[in-house]
Amino acid sequence: MISKIKKIAVLTSGGDAPGMNAAIRSVVRTCAFYNIECIGVYRGYQGMIDADFKEMNARSVNNIINKGGTILKTARSEEFRTVEGRKKAYDNLIKNGIDSFVVIGGDGSFTGALVFNKEFNFPVIGIPGTIDNDIFGTNYTLGYDTALNTVVDVIDKIRDTASSHNRLFFVEVMGRDVGYIALNAGVGAGAEEILIPEEDLGIDRMLESLKKSRKSGKTSSIVVVAEGDKTGRNVFELADYVEQNLPNYEVRVSVLGHMQRGGSPSCFDRVLASRMGVKAVETLMEGKSNFMAGIKDNKICLTPLDLAVKGKTKINQELIRVSDIMTT
Ligand code: F6P
Repeated sequence: MISKIKKIAVLTSGGDAPGMNAAIRSVVRTCAFYNIECIGVYRGYQGMIDADFKEMNARSVNNIINKGGTILKTARSEEFRTVEGRKKAYDNLIKNGIDSFVVIGGDGSFTGALVFNKEFNFPVIGIPGTIDNDIFGTNYTLGYDTALNTVVDVIDKIRDTASSHNRLFFVEVMGRDVGYIALNAGVGAGAEEILIPEEDLGIDRMLESLKKSRKSGKTSSIVVVAEGDKTGRNVFELADYVEQNLPNYEVRVSVLGHMQRGGSPSCFDRVLASRMGVKAVETLMEGKSNFMAGIKDNKICLTPLDLAVKGKTKINQELIRVSDIMTT
């Protein structure tokens, strides 16, 4: 493939996610395969502003496919939100002969890329990297599968102690705006109730359901709550509410927090990252810009970056129904 693109920068931005390193590796190795120079940018857009660059070759990414986090570090840059910040970043890219970049991150990172492209007509491609799975135009974002497995693994452990003590556990998982982790990990771990930001199932419905399950002979229960669930109460307030209204329940709370973002990526995330990285570089080589490399029906595909940001993902209603039936 003959391409005008000579030097691609790669950066990770926003919250880290398992699989980001595998995606960096893929971008770097694809560049090496096509004899394109590749520059790693440290600390996301902030590193562009500070010219925190490092030349990367195929050997710079040895032994990172299995590593969580991101070797390039990440940041949420306030300065990049300003015209002056973006101008500094542009000047640094030009000074270093960089003619395009691949950003691995979530919707905030993509919005930054779009603004930058509009101002400087600079070619950009996005790779969706976030454990939240909340990006339109892809069935999966990098890190989501790993995070699900981490959460299920932890809830399995919580279930052991919940069942030994006949307790009810509220487990808070990540997801400020979306409930993919809560719903899927909840079903996978056999949670009795799942509270998500997309649907208000009603707190009294939960009480009824807990009462019913106690009556039917269940001695312990797990309720999975997404950070931003619709009841408007945090997980501790929910626990208090249940203790006040169902005094025969002994309640405990576990907030899983940032451990959900760490750890070695699953095989699924590694393969996905490898495929997306190749697609991102080849798309730039074809002279295209402002796309996100995603996956739909197991096919790597492109979605316009603005659609990836603006489009709304939908929670799977069938899964909600399955969860309801499973709690019988
Ligand atoms: O977007 C990924 C995410 O992990 C969310 O699920 C969570 O709400 C948020 O990031 C936490 O962000 P921070 O690490 O900045 O507190």
